[in-house]
Amino acid sequence: MRRKRLILIAPTTSYRLNDFLRAAESLDVETLILSNRCRTLSRLWPQQNVLSVPYSRPAEAVAKVVDYCQDRPVDAVIPADDSTTVLAAMLAQQFGLPGNSPDSMRFCRNKYLFRHNLAQSGLPAPDFFQVPLRENPEALERRVRFPCVLKPLHLSGSRGVMRADSPAEFVEAFVRLRRLLQSREFVQKKEPESGFILIEEYIPGREVAIEGLLSEGRLDILTIFDKPDPLEGPFFEETIYLTPTRETTAVQANISKTLEHACRVLGLRHGPVHAEARLNDRGVVLLEVAPRTIGGLCSRIFEFSSGISLEALVQRHALGEQVATGDLIRSPAGVMMIPVPGTGILTSIEGVDQARRVPGIVEVSITAEVM
Ligand SMILES: Nc1ncnc2c1ncn2[C@@H]1O[C@H](COP(=O)(O)OP(=O)(O)O)[C@@H](O)[C@H]1O
Ligand SMILES: [Mg+2]
Repeated sequence: MRRKRLILIAPTTSYRLNDFLRAAESLDVETLILSNRCRTLSRLWPQQNVLSVPYSRPAEAVAKVVDYCQDRPVDAVIPADDSTTVLAAMLAQQFGLPGNSPDSMRFCRNKYLFRHNLAQSGLPAPDFFQVPLRENPEALERRVRFPCVLKPLHLSGSRGVMRADSPAEFVEAFVRLRRLLQSREFVQKKEPESGFILIEEYIPGREVAIEGLLSEGRLDILTIFDKPDPLEGPFFEETIYLTPTRETTAVQANISKTLEHACRVLGLRHGPVHAEARLNDRGVVLLEVAPRTIGGLCSRIFEFSSGISLEALVQRHALGEQVATGDLIRSPAGVMMIPVPGTGILTSIEGVDQARRVPGIVEVSITAEVM
């Protein structure tokens, strides 16, 4: 029998690449990495199983992969993070593999389209509207109800997400976000999403993150994380995730039902989902549904009772195997993303060994680079 072949789409900057690669090695499958590495440089560091494709021109990327894979059957396509989900869906469709439609991936990538698609679903949701960057924020005051949240349509890790409680704070946040979206980083990428700001009603409540796996539309919850920090703004920096959740079984069932409903409306049917929601007297209010695994290094706290990692589980599932999710081995468990206390240049890091010696700490990873 031939070895199965898996395509992994991972940008050069992805934290997720190593974990996915390690999992693929443990599964004895052939892996082809689709990277956005510059073609000139990739010739200098040739690597057997890497193909450079232009993520920003997906049709061209698909054609290149199809050409490359003419005599190499493909059994699964896995996006490592948000920026690669649409391309993954286009490829899966091209190879006739089960997965989500490119449109459903687009709805999850763009926070305005996400809200717009869920608006008629009957699920609890905030009021929202989007405006072009050139809009005068002072002229918007009458449309905005406070407190509100301003956010970019397509960034992640809470980047650019700000709360405003008054017209003055609104104008300040708008101008600040506009400056970010007009900076070189985004102007160079020329993504249409960078031209807008989304304004949402502020949703009070406790926040949870959900890791799930969809199989032909049926949702299995892998775990629910509590985010115990208050997260009331004005910024929403990522910090602590704890599992298992302390929410009651009834609330957990409601979270699961709400997320499955949202996936159906968005057109997500197969593969991993990572979602975030706030819980209040309106019920479960979704903040985000992403057709991928949890970001950063957080997935390292997953080890299922079947002995496999989250990445291995997702890859096996994509290859069409039956996967038993079962319980997490390491539970209770938690992850803390170390907050950045202020602006400046990182010049040194101290205390890492000391932190490693604290009872209960199993790993300390510093991904920031010291200048
Ligand atoms: N409408 C809202 N009301 C209250 N808090 C919000 C709202 N939107 C976002 N947040 C907070 O900001 C965080 C990041 O927002 P999110 O839309 O998930 O952006 P990102 O994709 O960057 O994670 C959320 O986890 C939540 O804490
Ligand atoms: Mg989020």
